[in-house]
Amino acid sequence: MHLTMAFAQLYSMLLSLLFALCSPSVLSQTSSNITPGNSLIAGEDGSLWASPSAEFAFGFKQIEENGFLLAIWFNKIPEQTIVWSVDGQNLAPKGSKVELTSNAWFRLVDPNGKQLWDASLSRTRVVAYAAMLDSGNFVLCGQDSHNLWQSFEQPTDTILPGQVLNQPAQLVARYLPTNYSRGRFLFNLQPDGNLLLYTTFFPTDLVNFAYWSTQAFGTGFSLIFNLSGYIILRADNGTIISTISSNTLSTQNFYQRAVLDYDGVFRHYIYPKNSGSSTGSWSTFSVTPSNICLRVNGVMGSGACGFNSYCTFDGTNKSCQCPNGYSFIDPYDVMKGCKQDFVSQSCDQTSREIDLFDFLEIPNMDWPFSDSEQFELVSEDWCKQECLADCFCSSVIFKNGYCWKKKQPLSNGRVDPSIRGKALIKIRKDNATLILKDNNKDNDRSQLIIIGSTLLSSSVFLNLVLLVVACLVAYRCGRSNPKGDQAVQLTSTMNLRSFTYEELWKGTKGFTEELGRGAFSIVYKGFLPNTPGNLIAVKKLNMVKGSEKEFEAEVSAIGRTHHRNLVQLLGFCNEGEDRLLVYEFMSRGTLAKFLFKDQRPTWYQRVDIAIGIAKGLLYLHEDCSTQIIHCDIKPQNILLDDAYTARISDFGLAKLLKIDQTVTTTAIRGTKGYVAIEWFKNKPITIKVDVYSFGVVLLELICCRKNFDMNVEDEHKMVLIDWVYDCFHYGKLDLLVEDDEEAQIYMKKVEEYVKIGLWCIQEDPSGRPTMKQVVQMLEGFMDVSNPPYLSSFTSQR
Ligand SMILES: *[C@@H]1O[C@H](CO)[C@@H](O)[C@H](O)[C@H]1NC(C)=O
Ligand SMILES: *[C@@H]1O[C@H](CO)[C@@H](O)[C@H](O)[C@H]1NC(C)=O
Ligand SMILES: *[C@@H]1O[C@H](CO)[C@@H](O)[C@H](O)[C@H]1NC(C)=O
Ligand SMILES: *[C@@H]1O[C@H](CO)[C@@H](O)[C@H](O)[C@H]1NC(C)=O
Ligand SMILES: *[C@@H]1O[C@H](CO)[C@@H](O)[C@H](O)[C@H]1NC(C)=O
Repeated sequence: MHLTMAFAQLYSMLLSLLFALCSPSVLSQTSSNITPGNSLIAGEDGSLWASPSAEFAFGFKQIEENGFLLAIWFNKIPEQTIVWSVDGQNLAPKGSKVELTSNAWFRLVDPNGKQLWDASLSRTRVVAYAAMLDSGNFVLCGQDSHNLWQSFEQPTDTILPGQVLNQPAQLVARYLPTNYSRGRFLFNLQPDGNLLLYTTFFPTDLVNFAYWSTQAFGTGFSLIFNLSGYIILRADNGTIISTISSNTLSTQNFYQRAVLDYDGVFRHYIYPKNSGSSTGSWSTFSVTPSNICLRVNGVMGSGACGFNSYCTFDGTNKSCQCPNGYSFIDPYDVMKGCKQDFVSQSCDQTSREIDLFDFLEIPNMDWPFSDSEQFELVSEDWCKQECLADCFCSSVIFKNGYCWKKKQPLSNGRVDPSIRGKALIKIRKDNATLILKDNNKDNDRSQLIIIGSTLLSSSVFLNLVLLVVACLVAYRCGRSNPKGDQAVQLTSTMNLRSFTYEELWKGTKGFTEELGRGAFSIVYKGFLPNTPGNLIAVKKLNMVKGSEKEFEAEVSAIGRTHHRNLVQLLGFCNEGEDRLLVYEFMSRGTLAKFLFKDQRPTWYQRVDIAIGIAKGLLYLHEDCSTQIIHCDIKPQNILLDDAYTARISDFGLAKLLKIDQTVTTTAIRGTKGYVAIEWFKNKPITIKVDVYSFGVVLLELICCRKNFDMNVEDEHKMVLIDWVYDCFHYGKLDLLVEDDEEAQIYMKKVEEYVKIGLWCIQEDPSGRPTMKQVVQMLEGFMDVSNPPYLSSFTSQR
């Protein structure tokens, strides 16, 4: 008996020794207590204090470039899930220090010595040591080993097995999954004994609506997460008032945590320990409340999702969505709600626009509040007509002969089978119902040939220049690497599928149906089950240089981007010479095809497309994990999906197609296309090159013509950006939309958009706005001032 125990001990010692040897960062600082004079510095490698088993660690987690979070995390799982942190609102800069000072003070200071946080201890208490315990609790202890302070008593949004919260106590949801600042939901164990979940009036902590509660009254109540994985509300005398989660899975075999998630759901998660492979992950064990969408019913506030959006719950996950015709104000913070994408109905008595609106039907949907009027014993048709006749009515709920008219903003939206009624959402038709004949394909091609031959005959030189520019662009973008390479990710962790060449050969029927071609690739149509429409676009790359690893790293960076205005990469093929990319199929083809044809798209479609491109670029520049400079924004690279949403394609390719050619650039200066001036001046290439190209595309969208149009007779008009500038300069913008009656109605908007376009094509990159500003201006959230005098324009004439 004793012998086996001794063996077991020896064995575990050996194991931990092995572990320690294998992870040098932990080697220096395991188990031992942290004594005064010790500190950790934000940004220094391996700067952490691990618990004896190394299952938890205390230290700095990098959240952004120069922002660190002082935190405790699960240290043995790849996710390193954070369970506790200090002030996610104000991240600590690089070089900040957390220290147990020699005069027994535990605090966080920035590199200048300014105190950012301290464990508020009474001055008379002397800390003898600090320790990161295996339970996940970080403690400060006095001489007599008494706890003076512990992280378990200062929870953020998470509780762990072994943790007890005594009333009063509170968990605050974080703002977004990776933003640790205070969010919109609270979990409260109140002084009176009640345990509640609240929505707040964000950004304050003022409570709004309690969407879940367990009643108790008096003192002596605790919330206990015990070591068998039960989460219970218990009275002092041992009576269990309420069981929030019960778990028979032992904490020996599973990591466990319970979190008030950013979406307002309190979830109990489990994670198998020693799963032996890398396939372990957190899974949801229980959720509270059982359906948050139906529970949040505040008269004030937007509900479980943002204004004008609706909430669905699948038993684990909450999802917020916008009805068609609406889109998220901020796709990364869907709780900000949805905005209407069309112009509201006019209230003008003479033009009530009744014919211009129609209804979108969503079954089992309700917006319980925001009623303006209620009718009984009416038909659905009557209900619709009533809403059409009322310019304030944005939608109606119809159920069993009842008709409720709704006004904006809509709140507490939800879809659930238990609701039974239906929502009829009023949307503008012209945007929704668009007739487009696909019969101009041939037309397009012949036009292309004509233009091609004109170009060829008029100037072989120009073609040469274009080719050189293309190479130059690819070369310099290939090298620009603003945020540094992320570590190469295993493809198995992405959603990307790795195809064999044979699969793609079959899927494209032997690469027969060509969709388009560029300097470095040819795109084919393909068929693949379980994709939208069972269609894909396969891009066959030629001239890809670099190793397999590099290729996969670049492809995985592209695969990590997800945005509604980008064409999603689905997979790739990497077999020797054959390198192919597989994309979603975009049924409506390129913007070039859509825009430069006889029947022009409506003004609204063009505005939508402009905003879509801008948002896609904003995402590439600012919001994806590795900044991506597109380098080749032009109408041929913007595709349109079924709903005519603009989707940027070919992003990330410039870097993938590293082309090592050096080119003399002097001959190119002055060529006008989509390429910014800095390409020719050997200046650094920044995201502002995309802003320039976007500006050109925007002007093309406004005027429905190519920037460079040889067919135009009047020489002044041949280069669009010059002509636009002249028109603007002489106050003659109406000339730009001469034969576009629709745009003439919106002359003020046309002028604003022209100004935005001119700002974007400033010669000085720093004078151009950022894509964020462009989006704000396009959406009317930011005033557009007059662009400065553009010296480059006149000087070249
Ligand atoms: C988190 O969100 C807040 C509120 O919008 C914002 O001020 C802060 O900069 C964000 N923090 C990070 C790291 O993105
Ligand atoms: C945890 O609580 C449950 C329910 O009260 C109880 O059955 C179980 O024995 C408790 N486990 C521990 C380790 O206290
Ligand atoms: C224990 O406390 C609860 C709440 O205060 C009370 O309802 C219950 O009667 C008490 N039970 C006993 C056995 O005292
Ligand atoms: C909930 O969302 C997570 C993360 O997005 C996902 O992994 C999980 O499969 C989803 N669960 C369900 C039931 O859809
Ligand atoms: C209007 O156009 C935008 C962009 O193309 C699209 O997202 C939206 O769904 C359209 N509205 C309707 C009602 O179809």
